[in-house]
Amino acid sequence: MKVTVVGAGAVGASCAEYIAIKNFASEVVLLDIKEGFAEGKAMDLMQTASLNGFDTKITGVTNDYSKTADSDICVITSGIPRKPGMTREELIGINAGIVKSVSSSLIEQSPNTIIIVVSNPMDTMTYLVHKTTDLPKNRIIGMGGALDSARFKYRLAEALECPISDVDGMVIGGHSDKGMVPLTSHATRNSIKVSEFISEERLNQVKEDTKVGGATLTKLLGTSAWYAPGAAVSGLVQAIACDQKKMFPCSTLLDGEYGLNDLCIGVPVILGRNGIEKVVEIELSDAEKAHMKESAEGVSKTNGLLEL
Ligand code: 2OP
Repeated sequence: MKVTVVGAGAVGASCAEYIAIKNFASEVVLLDIKEGFAEGKAMDLMQTASLNGFDTKITGVTNDYSKTADSDICVITSGIPRKPGMTREELIGINAGIVKSVSSSLIEQSPNTIIIVVSNPMDTMTYLVHKTTDLPKNRIIGMGGALDSARFKYRLAEALECPISDVDGMVIGGHSDKGMVPLTSHATRNSIKVSEFISEERLNQVKEDTKVGGATLTKLLGTSAWYAPGAAVSGLVQAIACDQKKMFPCSTLLDGEYGLNDLCIGVPVILGRNGIEKVVEIELSDAEKAHMKESAEGVSKTNGLLEL
């Protein structure tokens, strides 16, 4: 199993590290345009192999896509991260060109690959990959909801004052500060609805804190987060690589599901060796349906900024 990660910045390097430590891939190629940067990150990570107990081979390359040839899965993290006060959508001007060029270079070397898009604005970048490549839609996946759901569970556990392992919850919709749809009506603590334990007001606060989870960290860090994004991507890669048939909220091209068409947005999907193997349609509350519709309008508006 060969995985390529484009972008050896904080998110890409964290993703490579978590994939390596999980030891399901034979090789991870880390590629960056900055001379020597990916090589250095790869060498540093390989020097943790005996300490963290993995046999995965991590190779760093500078802008040489021939080294990515025949990758089973390719992760695109390249592009600029946001600064405090910025929205993800403001990154489109620079990141769209990068994602377009990177996806073409990857597919040229690995025509059968599955692409996972992380670069922001992620839903629109995922849509861009559809519009500029002829990959089937099951092989283009946007990662946002897995990260947002992890932040949702973190906030729920904080409100419930319980271990995060007791909590389950999912965030669908656009990966944007206003467009996320934390499914509070479905969230549980040990299979019991969380509304049994906390007030609606506290649950709304959890929802709002989740939606700005990325911006909260960008304000603290001065740049976008990387540990949780890297870990979230590694979970999607593992589900595909190991054919786990695992459910995640992922950004995927919709063709009528949830009443939406011709856009990529976060919905529950089953991930396996063929990428997105099924879009799962679940019952949403009226409020969640309205929020999803609003979120889709926001994503479509950002898509309209693309020069296709
Ligand atoms: C985040 O929310 C980078 O969009 C990513 O942290």
